[in-house]
Amino acid sequence: MTVTDWRTQFDHTDPGYSAAPYAIWDELRESCPVARSERFRGMWVPTRYDDVVAVAHDTTTFSSRSPIVTEYLAMAEFGVMAPPISSDPPYHTAIRRLLLPFFAPKPIEALRPRVVAIADDLIDAFVDADGCDAAVQFSQHVPVRLIAHLLGVPEEEGDRFRGWVHDLLEVGISDFATAMLALQDFFGYFREQMLARRDAPGDDLVSYLAHATIRSSGEGQSGNLVEASADEDRPLTDQELLGVVLLMVVAGIDTTWSAIGSTIWHLAGHPDDRDRLVADPGLWPVALEEFLRAYAPVTMARELAVDTEFQGCPMHAGDPLLLPFPAANRDPSVFERADEVVIDRAHNRHVAFGVGIHRCLGSNLARLEVQAAVQRFIERVPPFRLADPDAVTWSAGQVRGPRSLPLVFER
Ligand code: HEM
Repeated sequence: MTVTDWRTQFDHTDPGYSAAPYAIWDELRESCPVARSERFRGMWVPTRYDDVVAVAHDTTTFSSRSPIVTEYLAMAEFGVMAPPISSDPPYHTAIRRLLLPFFAPKPIEALRPRVVAIADDLIDAFVDADGCDAAVQFSQHVPVRLIAHLLGVPEEEGDRFRGWVHDLLEVGISDFATAMLALQDFFGYFREQMLARRDAPGDDLVSYLAHATIRSSGEGQSGNLVEASADEDRPLTDQELLGVVLLMVVAGIDTTWSAIGSTIWHLAGHPDDRDRLVADPGLWPVALEEFLRAYAPVTMARELAVDTEFQGCPMHAGDPLLLPFPAANRDPSVFERADEVVIDRAHNRHVAFGVGIHRCLGSNLARLEVQAAVQRFIERVPPFRLADPDAVTWSAGQVRGPRSLPLVFER
């Protein structure tokens, strides 16, 4: 049902929202900064920067046990964990600490040649044509191949990965059966990988997790299936390991795919920005942050752990809350010319990667992928424009980015 009043019917799967959310956020920030929707089990939706940040910091009131809002039941009730994103302290701290070395700046920077090689391989296939679909032929493949590489599985498994993400994050939030089938297929595939790496480890993330230990005090983690008993080191359970891998696939693919696609979409409509970046690649670090601010792809969710009042709203334990970091990034009280893309913006405290204890663990990897892939794209592909602005389609749900992006090359 099409939304007629965003204050009471907020729906992040509405096609109008995924095509153009900016005016909706502006209207809500001014008239009803914390909306309450009749949809998605009565979720709350803050839209101001300060409110989004306050919720993210208050992990006692706003639990991460259900980081995706679904129509039918709280994610925690699925019995599926995806730590650390689906957990609260102290368990969260233990799992996050385990993963940190894998995503540190040095090992991630070592992946740069791999990203450039993937980008070159993809560009080779269309650079001599009259145009391409930059979402279908380019942006979606970069993160899929990288994540496959990190998990130590063949890069050709990409189609399967993309299918899981689509079925879970887009279709699955309103369709329980599709979500369950995707999870079944995912767990079947990676259970085999896990068992193989226990016997014969490689230098990939699955092998690392299969042989790692954590110390978790196990204080009855709601949303986590593990109830560890003591303060002692222990290996990850199968469910924990598969949960972390699930998160890598869900958090690492369509997020980055969306950021790469949105950046190319912007450059297609702003040849002046494209020309500046080609002429002066030294602009990239600052420009990248601006693309991430303006086209932040990821909206997260929380679940009320207790009854509380927030900005005058009476919230109850169990209520879902949508946490739109992209709306915070467009708040004019924090960012001058918030709705403009200023590629040399000097002050940019954006929250595209979240804020607080759950801040994106993969941010070094995401930055590397977006910058290296798009830089290569604009260096090698002739000047380009949108073939037809109306032909561009955007994903629905908690991750937003172009899914079809037809371009024409201007030779
Ligand atoms: C442009 C791309 C990306 C964006 C915009 C993004 C955004 C985010 C955001 C907003 C969060 C905060 C979640 C919360 O507060 O609940 C998050 C968490 C996380 N992200 Fe990313 N992400 C991106 C790419 C990646 C990649 C490539 C990976 C790894 C392969 C990754 C792994 C994670 C993990 C593991 C967490 C959970 C951290 C925790 O709970 O402590 N992300 N991401």
